[in-house]
Amino acid sequence: MSTASTDDAAFIRSLPKAELHMHIEGSLEPELLFALAERNGIALPYDDVEALRSAYEFADLQSFLDLYYQGADVLRTEADFADLMTAYLDRAHADGVRRVEMFFDPQTHTDRGIGFDVFMPGFLQAMDDATERTGISAGLILCFLRHLSPEAAMATFDEAEAGGYLERIIGVGLDSAEVGNPPEPFAEVFDRAAEAGLYRVAHAGEEGPPEYIWGALDVLDVQRIDHGVRAEEDPELVARLVVDKVPLTMCPLSNLELCVVDDLADHNIGRLLDLGLTVTINSDDPAYFGGYVGENYERTADALDLSRDDLVQLARNSLEASFASDDEKATWLAELDAVDAG
Ligand code: ADE
Ligand code: ZN
Repeated sequence: MSTASTDDAAFIRSLPKAELHMHIEGSLEPELLFALAERNGIALPYDDVEALRSAYEFADLQSFLDLYYQGADVLRTEADFADLMTAYLDRAHADGVRRVEMFFDPQTHTDRGIGFDVFMPGFLQAMDDATERTGISAGLILCFLRHLSPEAAMATFDEAEAGGYLERIIGVGLDSAEVGNPPEPFAEVFDRAAEAGLYRVAHAGEEGPPEYIWGALDVLDVQRIDHGVRAEEDPELVARLVVDKVPLTMCPLSNLELCVVDDLADHNIGRLLDLGLTVTINSDDPAYFGGYVGENYERTADALDLSRDDLVQLARNSLEASFASDDEKATWLAELDAVDAG
């Protein structure tokens, strides 16, 4: 077994993989943010791209969310959402991503008067174009903002349904400020999503306690946990995640930038992998946290001295944990086996 180093960047990119935890609004690079502000006649409180980028110093999740919601305000037209999506999908394709299941936050847009009929056509057209151009397979997960009420989440679900958009999403999720906003109040809207045949996922155990992970599993009935870093504090929970093969969509660079961990070398993804959990590596908000999925693999491999076998296992986990069809998964897994066999 060889040890990973920065020389393994090409190997990492050659691994067919899925990205299962990425907020499309979090892929808004400062350059595109400035271009869209200019296109839409919006004045920004930063002189230039460098000044904006240097503001990306976060103490915790909330300090990031404040800038993330502010940044999303430049997204106004269908073309803006399409440009955002195209930029991300092309970048992901370059990292060997075959399948992406990405989050979007409708309430961030509807609450400022930008409706489903603006962002959904923009997203969907760009996704179809990218699939045709590069072969990348893409699905959308509608996230409810947990700092807002369960009634607001329900109204958002109603709006998606009324617009005929439930057929165009694969699932629902729960994001935004975690601590103080447990999953249980969102049970009803998650039940409706289940009745509509949608998958369910939730951010849990990023900053919040293991109890929120239990709540996401037992009350929201999710198929995956987003982050789950704090699961390790509860051995019974770890056992449950292993037995039920519940994937964790982990985001090492995000955890580092939001001070969930002090050092990448302290990240528990390697330990959880060794315990047999279905852990995966993802980028979360790549424009804000210093790297897309490839960099997340590379820097984690360096910090934790992951082997090539570990990296193949992480890519395998991502493909197996995806909500793609069995046929698609079988194709990508066969490609992965071929890379693994050298
Ligand atoms: N929204 C965007 N990124 C997020 C994260 N890391 N945690 C919770 N909500 C988010
Ligand atoms: Zn996230």
